[in-house]
Amino acid sequence: MKFAMIYFVVFLSLGVVLLPQNTDGSPTSGTKPLPKECNIVNDTFVDCRHKDLRTIPTGFPATVETLLLSYNSIRVITNESFHGLVNLVTLELHHNSISKLRSVFFKDQEKLRYLSLHHNQIGKLPNDVFEHVQGLEVLDLSYMNNGFTSLPVALTGLLNLRVLDFSSNRLQSAGFTPDATFPALQELHLGKNQIKSLQNADFKALLDCKLSFLDMTENQVVDIESGVFHPIASVAELDFSKGLDPVAIPALSEAISDQLVNTLYLKEIDLGTQDIDKFKDLRNSTLEKLDISFNNITTLNSEFWGLSNVTSLIIQSSLVTTIGATAFSGLHLVETVDLSSNQIATVRDGMFSALSNTNLKTLYLNNSKINNISASDGFRGLSKLLYLKLSNNKIKQNFVGEEFKGLDSLEVLDLGVNTNISLSPDAFRFLQSLQTLYLKLANIKNITVVPSPFDKLSGLKNLDLSNNNMAALHVDTFSSLGNLGTMYLQHNNLYNMWNETIHVPFLKSLRRLKYLNLCYNGFQNIPNNSLSNLPELKALLLCHNKISHLQDNIIDDLPLTTLDLGHNQINLINQTLLEPVLGTLKALTVSGNPFSCGCDLQWFREWLDVTKVHINDNSHMICSSPPDMRGKLIIDFHPETLNCDHRLPLYTWILIGVGSCMVFVTVALAVKFRFHINYCFNLVNARRRKYQRIKGEDLPFLYDAFVSFSHKDEEWVDNELVRHLEGDSGLRLCLHKRDFILGRKILDSIIEAVDSSRFTLCILSANYLDSHWCKMEREFAMANLIDRDVLIIIALGEIPEKKITKYYKLHKLMMKRTYLTWPMEPGVQRNDFWVKLKTVLRAPELRINNNDVI
Ligand SMILES: *[C@@H]1O[C@H](CO)[C@@H](O)[C@H](O)[C@H]1NC(C)=O
Ligand SMILES: *[C@@H]1O[C@H](CO)[C@@H](O)[C@H](O)[C@H]1NC(C)=O
Ligand SMILES: *[C@@H]1O[C@H](CO)[C@@H](O)[C@H](O)[C@H]1NC(C)=O
Ligand SMILES: *[C@@H]1O[C@H](CO)[C@@H](O)[C@H](O)[C@H]1NC(C)=O
Ligand SMILES: *[C@@H]1O[C@H](CO)[C@@H](O)[C@H](O)[C@H]1NC(C)=O
Ligand SMILES: *[C@@H]1O[C@H](CO)[C@@H](O)[C@H](O)[C@H]1NC(C)=O
Ligand SMILES: *[C@@H]1O[C@H](CO)[C@@H](O)[C@H](O)[C@H]1NC(C)=O
Ligand SMILES: *[C@@H]1O[C@H](CO)[C@@H](O)[C@H](O)[C@H]1NC(C)=O
Ligand SMILES: *[C@@H]1O[C@H](CO)[C@@H](O)[C@H](O)[C@H]1NC(C)=O
Ligand SMILES: *[C@@H]1O[C@H](CO)[C@@H](O)[C@H](O)[C@H]1NC(C)=O
Ligand SMILES: *[C@@H]1O[C@H](CO)[C@@H](O)[C@H](O)[C@H]1NC(C)=O
Ligand SMILES: *[C@@H]1O[C@H](CO)[C@@H](O)[C@H](O)[C@H]1NC(C)=O
Repeated sequence: MKFAMIYFVVFLSLGVVLLPQNTDGSPTSGTKPLPKECNIVNDTFVDCRHKDLRTIPTGFPATVETLLLSYNSIRVITNESFHGLVNLVTLELHHNSISKLRSVFFKDQEKLRYLSLHHNQIGKLPNDVFEHVQGLEVLDLSYMNNGFTSLPVALTGLLNLRVLDFSSNRLQSAGFTPDATFPALQELHLGKNQIKSLQNADFKALLDCKLSFLDMTENQVVDIESGVFHPIASVAELDFSKGLDPVAIPALSEAISDQLVNTLYLKEIDLGTQDIDKFKDLRNSTLEKLDISFNNITTLNSEFWGLSNVTSLIIQSSLVTTIGATAFSGLHLVETVDLSSNQIATVRDGMFSALSNTNLKTLYLNNSKINNISASDGFRGLSKLLYLKLSNNKIKQNFVGEEFKGLDSLEVLDLGVNTNISLSPDAFRFLQSLQTLYLKLANIKNITVVPSPFDKLSGLKNLDLSNNNMAALHVDTFSSLGNLGTMYLQHNNLYNMWNETIHVPFLKSLRRLKYLNLCYNGFQNIPNNSLSNLPELKALLLCHNKISHLQDNIIDDLPLTTLDLGHNQINLINQTLLEPVLGTLKALTVSGNPFSCGCDLQWFREWLDVTKVHINDNSHMICSSPPDMRGKLIIDFHPETLNCDHRLPLYTWILIGVGSCMVFVTVALAVKFRFHINYCFNLVNARRRKYQRIKGEDLPFLYDAFVSFSHKDEEWVDNELVRHLEGDSGLRLCLHKRDFILGRKILDSIIEAVDSSRFTLCILSANYLDSHWCKMEREFAMANLIDRDVLIIIALGEIPEKKITKYYKLHKLMMKRTYLTWPMEPGVQRNDFWVKLKTVLRAPELRINNNDVI
């Protein structure tokens, strides 16, 4: 990552350094450094906004197409500022302090299309200022501090202009110069000026234009000549909001009659009740939407004969309290009437009768003060109405059915957010087409009446009963809603419908239900079969209840994609519960539960790591037990440290493996080297006894010397050694062939022999070195020798040097100390030999100084 960043930075800086070289042929390229204040996004896009610039930097690459210089303190543009920027298409200079423009500034900008200069100090423009940029499509000269007082001559010739903005200047007139023409103009903004009158000649420049928006807001138009809009082919939206004195309405009406104006906004113009009549002059207009919101129309009694083509009449927030019997007459084609946020208190009999037999489809009566709907014919005649919005009122009523008489086509009824609504069995009996019923926050207490008010609504698809204080429903309240797809029941108190002792199966008939919201109901229990008849349920929301335990098979057969169990008392989610729905599940919420982060949660925890299901809000999935996990996130819980299911963690397996290997090896070694072990044991024993003997604590030595020899040297031992030492001298020798007790293990015998002898005589010969038993005796004695010099070596005959060196220990020994050599020739030397040997063997001290003795 870091490397990538560094590469990127290096790459960028290279790019920046190299850029000027790419702009060969342009007068500014190559030599000048690039303005370092600016952000050169790429070679076509330079962003110098918010840099506190006082002048325009130079040295931009000629490839630049978009140059943003807005939000600075630039005062002047010079002849050179944009010199060479021949590719410039978009130039933003708004929010600066520029007061002068000259044509020479833009002499290279033939390709300029978008020039934004709003929020500067320009009040006048030289007539030729745009002579080099005649391709301009968007020109914004709004919000000039000094303000244009008239539309400048300089605009003449900008034949490609699509958007022209002169809002917030000091224009007195909307008039363009006589020879100007903008055949491509789509948007003209003249709002926030001081235009008082519109004259026939003003829009001659807009000949045959098809405007999408003509903004005349926030002016003070009082005078409109009838032909002012004639040159314009059509206006999709004409906005005079806050910009027209109501006395000019007849003039406006006349001016837009025979005109293709689609939408007229007259908001906040202080339109009074009496002014509505003035629209009658609109007779031949094609107006389709009239918005006269935020006015002062207390009584709607007037006729709208002039608005025969209007399909949408918006009278929001206009203090309307009363609607007379003739109101709306003439609105033959009306489809939408928005009367929301007015002061209407009662829907009286025949209030909308003028709209009967029209195509009215949507009626907004929301956000008003309605508290009562006439129980006879309040909405009479609105047989085409599809959508009736009565929400956010003060309705306090027990609906008996007549209130909605005549609404034969009604598909959506919104009675949400009202004061106190109760429903009699017939409440909706005339609403046989109803598909959506909102009764949210309507203070409906219980719906226990029989038959159910919903019985007639077999086509109902969506029902919102949320945020009521419902505590009880009859088991058959929803029995007829076999087509219901969405049910909102959150924020009620339905907990006693499904408690430990009582199960009211109120959802049993909702076989098409796809979305069910039961959050915030205080449920502790979700009974076994309560959800079992919902074969199409995709979203089940049970959040913010008090559920501590969900039965294993409660959701087994539901094709759930969304399951919300958040904020309950659940401490365990296990495989049995979730596995049946994992085939379909896409989103799961379980946050805000007091999870017990122990082995039982192991499956869930491991599942979290591998699942593709979206887990909502997992930063609030927190353990609450055991104590050492309390407050920790579930994702920080690692069950593999717990030895769950008596399964051992890996490293334990490794330890066990290593341990058993070691035992095996030990046993194997013990078997293989049992000999050596035995030897060691005996050796230790022998040493201990020898030590005791020396100290006189144990038996005295049986022998003066144990003779270790090869049986091939037996003859010499018998004839020479035994004869000389035992015969004359009375020394006792231990010879294995003679003194070993038959039947004992040979090793034991040897050990005992060495052990009970003061010395070991080693008859070293070529034979000896070959003999296995001798080797053992030798080693035994040599080992003993480590603390007692009890080994006496007698070299018998020639021993090849090579052979001795093979026995490292022996060799070392023989190198270190002298040894007795049996003279080959009989004579004096042999006598000497015996004298020496006898002396050694008779020595009282066991410790023998090597050099002294031999
Ligand atoms: C240059 O950057 C602008 C703004 O990020 C972007 O819209 C434009 O496509 C880029 N042009 C090139 C050639 O990369
Ligand atoms: C800018 O250009 C105009 C016309 O080409 C010229 O009259 C004027 O002197 C120039 N100003 C400067 C400062 O070069
Ligand atoms: C409406 O148009 C008809 C012809 O289509 C014309 O006779 C009538 O005078 C027009 N009404 C007004 C008020 O312009
Ligand atoms: C109403 O609009 C239709 C086109 O939608 C048009 O043919 C008709 O003439 C208009 N009616 C009036 C009175 O302008
Ligand atoms: C509405 O108009 C009535 C007179 O028709 C006037 O008394 C009242 O002050 C006006 N209210 C507002 C808010 O302009
Ligand atoms: C009345 O409801 C409509 C449709 O939802 C909405 O557009 C309008 O803003 C609402 N009126 C008010 C005053 O909120
Ligand atoms: C509602 O208005 C009717 C008269 O239109 C009246 O008879 C009825 O008592 C009123 N109901 C309430 C609850 O105010
Ligand atoms: C709500 O309406 C019902 C029946 O119309 C009535 O019994 C109850 O007193 C009303 N409650 C309030 C708070 O107005
Ligand atoms: C609604 O039902 C609950 C539980 O059955 C009951 O306690 C309450 O009194 C009922 N409320 C009304 C207004 O009938
Ligand atoms: C279950 O609800 C009924 C009312 O529907 C209530 O009488 C009963 O006490 C509740 N039982 C429990 C255990 O809460
Ligand atoms: C729910 O069903 C299971 C078996 O499906 C059963 O063991 C359990 O007792 C039932 N619980 C209740 C409250 O009926
Ligand atoms: C899941 O928990 C329930 C009780 O909470 C238990 O009956 C079931 O055996 C558990 N399943 C598994 C796989 O642990």
